[in-house]
Amino acid sequence: MPTKRFKAVIPAAGLGTRFLPATKAMPKEMLPVVDKPAIQYVVEEAANAGIDDILVIIGRNKNAISNHFDSVPELEVKLREKGDDARLLRVLESSDLADIHFVRQGEPKGLGHAVLRARAHVGDSPFAVLLGDDLIDERDELLTTMMAEHERTGAAIIALMEVDPDHIHMYGAAAVEETGTDDVVRVTGLVEKPAKEDAPSNLAIIGRYVLGPEIFDVLEHTEPGKGGEIQLTDALQVLAADPEGPGVYGVVFRGRRYDTGDRVDYIKAIVQLASDRDDLGPELRPWFKEFAATL
Ligand code: UTP
Repeated sequence: MPTKRFKAVIPAAGLGTRFLPATKAMPKEMLPVVDKPAIQYVVEEAANAGIDDILVIIGRNKNAISNHFDSVPELEVKLREKGDDARLLRVLESSDLADIHFVRQGEPKGLGHAVLRARAHVGDSPFAVLLGDDLIDERDELLTTMMAEHERTGAAIIALMEVDPDHIHMYGAAAVEETGTDDVVRVTGLVEKPAKEDAPSNLAIIGRYVLGPEIFDVLEHTEPGKGGEIQLTDALQVLAADPEGPGVYGVVFRGRRYDTGDRVDYIKAIVQLASDRDDLGPELRPWFKEFAATL
């Protein structure tokens, strides 16, 4: 377990346009994945990695997220009166995961801009960034490996995943060199959402980062890039290109990941997670088989 005191930052202020109209009045991070909102899985992941101070960057519709992590005394009283201990426990758990703070991103000017909003809260700590709509299956290890790599190198650490070259234009892509350690690479260059023919590799940046506070100075000077947004990828490219600094390393993730901001991936996440669960799987799996046979 890493020894530094890491904080976590969860950007959840995007517009979620791919999920309209569901995201008209509700942030996409609050869409339920089986019976928990996506962002609760992300908060649980940070808490399971030993992080107890979490800052969520919220946008419009902010109340839904902050209310979710608050206690709801009248609901607790009702469940207690009914003797529904299992549900009571699940409600209590969601408001007792970590010390959760909120800050607003006035306008959604990009992920880099959202992360910069964390500066005052994070101060001089190293911190993890976990995108609020990107789920890493809790059975697969990623964040603690990244935190340990940060402690070892002092570098910015990004999570990378091999994707179909036809999909690389939807991600940041990394040019990398081997390090001699399996699934840890040195990042020599980064480009946000490249065309397939311009991509330096099919290694895509996914929604986990472990950063030092020096990223904030870079973000202060990062101009809007792809899509007119201030891109975290562009700030990381500055660190990767700095010969004086510790650079940027990538941890290649080969486990299960769901981008719940994408409709198809969102449905896959629900099907996979529900069918693996002891309480729902036994009833669902035979139905999935029957249904698949009709396709
Ligand atoms: P996305 O690009 O997936 O979010 O950002 P989006 O813009 O909401 O999505 P679409 O394309 O319109 O559907 C990745 C993460 O960064 C956050 C989002 O909430 C998401 O968790 N984000 C993005 C911010 O917090 N602020 C921003 O200005 C942009």
